[in-house]
Amino acid sequence: MANPWFETVAIAQKRAGRRLPSSVYGALVAGSERGVTSADNIGAFDEIGLLPLVADLPPTRELATTVMGQEIALPVVISPTGVQAVHPDGEVAVARAAAARGTAMGLSCFASKPVEEVVATNPKTFIQTYWCGTRDDMVRRLEQARTAGAVGAIATLDWTFSHGRDWGSPVIPETLDLRTMLRLAPQALSRPRWLMSWLRHGHLPDLGVPNMARADGSVPTFFGAYGEWMGTPKPTWEDIAWLRAQWEGPFMLKGVMRVDDAKRAVDAGVTAISVSNHGGNNVDSSPATIRVLPAIASAVGSSVEVLLDGGVRRGSDVVKALALGARAVMIGRASLWGLAANGQAGVENVLDILRNGMDSTLLGIGRASVHELTSADVVVGPDFTRP
Ligand SMILES: Cc1cc2nc3c(=O)[nH]c(=O)nc-3n(C[C@H](O)[C@H](O)[C@H](O)COP(=O)(O)O)c2cc1C
Repeated sequence: MANPWFETVAIAQKRAGRRLPSSVYGALVAGSERGVTSADNIGAFDEIGLLPLVADLPPTRELATTVMGQEIALPVVISPTGVQAVHPDGEVAVARAAAARGTAMGLSCFASKPVEEVVATNPKTFIQTYWCGTRDDMVRRLEQARTAGAVGAIATLDWTFSHGRDWGSPVIPETLDLRTMLRLAPQALSRPRWLMSWLRHGHLPDLGVPNMARADGSVPTFFGAYGEWMGTPKPTWEDIAWLRAQWEGPFMLKGVMRVDDAKRAVDAGVTAISVSNHGGNNVDSSPATIRVLPAIASAVGSSVEVLLDGGVRRGSDVVKALALGARAVMIGRASLWGLAANGQAGVENVLDILRNGMDSTLLGIGRASVHELTSADVVVGPDFTRP
């Protein structure tokens, strides 16, 4: 067997493309409409320069920090991603990898594994929720996560049901009944290693979302839960303050792209925000998250923890985000590429790439700790940021 280790996230993505059926891979690439935002999330990092030194470099570098009360070995948290069918161990494999590398993870309400199993694997788990269903439904789901031991909650609000993609959306079935399996058989058979990994586990993906269980305990399908979410009127700031009050511990609002929203999030009493555009899956033509980070961090960074997600593929990206005001970053697709490429070990591989990349970047720019980073550590052109 070829060496399963990969040296960059780009290589993990290539392997994911070769290993996954096209519709599963396509669901991970995602991005809305023309893909302007998902491309800018990545491309904007390339516009930020770093100026290395040659002497008096720090002999060791400190990467550890805290996020939402959790000590983490590096300022990289796994972002919640509601994806099914990537790997039979799904979010449990991700949780094992995050725990092995000493970091926290967000668990999507659209995940394939129940919060109980994930928290048992990595106690540093934040449950993620959308504004979906009745208030009673939302309280019940948060209560389930709290009982399971989740140590924080993430409310994600940046989703506008924009489904069009210029490169075409993948076919995602409602359930895998016999007819659907026959229709998708050519795709699955063209990816025998993926298929075998599921058959070894004794089943095919069931596309259920256990963290969205109904009051009677039944588990809806992905699309059943998605329909409920589509049918739920969008929240007001009063609703958000109400939701925040339902969770006694640390609470993050994910999807903030504007200074005015960041200030309202502070007023609603959140612990943290993630500057995020859902990985380019919300309103296309939103700027890259790294472009709006500096203004948001300077407006609210002393009141709440400011994280960033979107486009992080390298350790140097993490250093750039921290220099521009983030406390930590979250990674979505990078961990999914690792999971697809090599399961738990693949996600560990991705976290190691980011850790090593951060370490060598800090060494190069002469910083002994992530806590020392400031905007003076990066070179940014005058047109880089957005208000
Ligand atoms: C396939 C996919 C599924 C996602 N599902 C969720 C989700 O269920 N909940 C959520 O808060 N964010 C979700 N996100 C957004 C991620 O948490 C994160 O904001 C985004 O992936 C960051 O960009 P990156 O992929 O470039 O790292 C999803 C993103 C992708 C690509």
